[in-house]
Amino acid sequence: FVVAGRDKKIPVSSMPGVFQYSIDRIDEEIDEVASAGIPAILIFGIPDHKDDKATGAYDEHGVTQEAIRHIKDKYPDLIVIADVCLCEYTSTGHCGMVDDKGHILNDETLPLLTATAESMARAGADIVAPSDMMDGRVAAIREGLDAAGFELTPILAYSAKFASAYYGPFRDAAESAPKFGDRKTYQMDPANGREAMREIADDLDEGADMIIIKPAMAYLDICKEARLRFNVPLIAYNVSGEYAMIKAAAANGWIDEKRITLETLTGMKRAGADRIITYHAIEAAHWLQD
Ligand code: PBG
Ligand code: ZN
Repeated sequence: FVVAGRDKKIPVSSMPGVFQYSIDRIDEEIDEVASAGIPAILIFGIPDHKDDKATGAYDEHGVTQEAIRHIKDKYPDLIVIADVCLCEYTSTGHCGMVDDKGHILNDETLPLLTATAESMARAGADIVAPSDMMDGRVAAIREGLDAAGFELTPILAYSAKFASAYYGPFRDAAESAPKFGDRKTYQMDPANGREAMREIADDLDEGADMIIIKPAMAYLDICKEARLRFNVPLIAYNVSGEYAMIKAAAANGWIDEKRITLETLTGMKRAGADRIITYHAIEAAHWLQD
């Protein structure tokens, strides 16, 4: 999590071990990532200013773009994945534009997401990862990237993203909680596994190169089913609430943190994940080398 400003390393209270860094201090974290042998990072920006058009998301000199430039310059071998969404940048905290009745404006949001993806690619992002769940965004982003000369930039789509209470701690970290309502009109119903398969098929049709299932722990059936149906790289996102639960129980001495964490990640692999996005990454990488 990269935050605007200088000399900041702000702990996220609901995610022990996770910090918001300003760009001038982010090397402290990236050095650890690199020395743990982690191949890729997913970057989220917290701008100093939010507005109704999410201008910070596609500002060529926005906090996320500058962070990507800095990281790719200093760590050229590290794969930088830019999350593409508007919720950290909108005054409403929603992932898309909102009308005066509070309804999400799906189609009006697509050009903003496309502009965001292009600016992330221009800043040097190796992969863009749309997490907004608007319909048609993968096609729009693919077309925009191609037209801007980024034909080779892959799209890692958050295809099966459920409207989950497990995202709570993330919204503290990214300062992206919705100011009203919820995300249930664009994220999926946790009870509806079949819709997840349709969303994945649609994203692949639109040009997604890789897919994310999110959250992971309570959705391992979705991972397994997607693994059996779709022959593309599959990534499980071990989300903030899953991390927070393990950290909280471990801090109380109620569980064996190392064993529980590795068992949890192993379950995701067993369910078919080729890769895992996890806040445990640095610790887990060290434990796996022990
Ligand atoms: C939204 C977004 C979310 C996460 C990443 N991007 C969820 C949300 O706020 O709805 C969740 C990540 C996590 O919980 O670790 N664009
Ligand atoms: Zn969002």
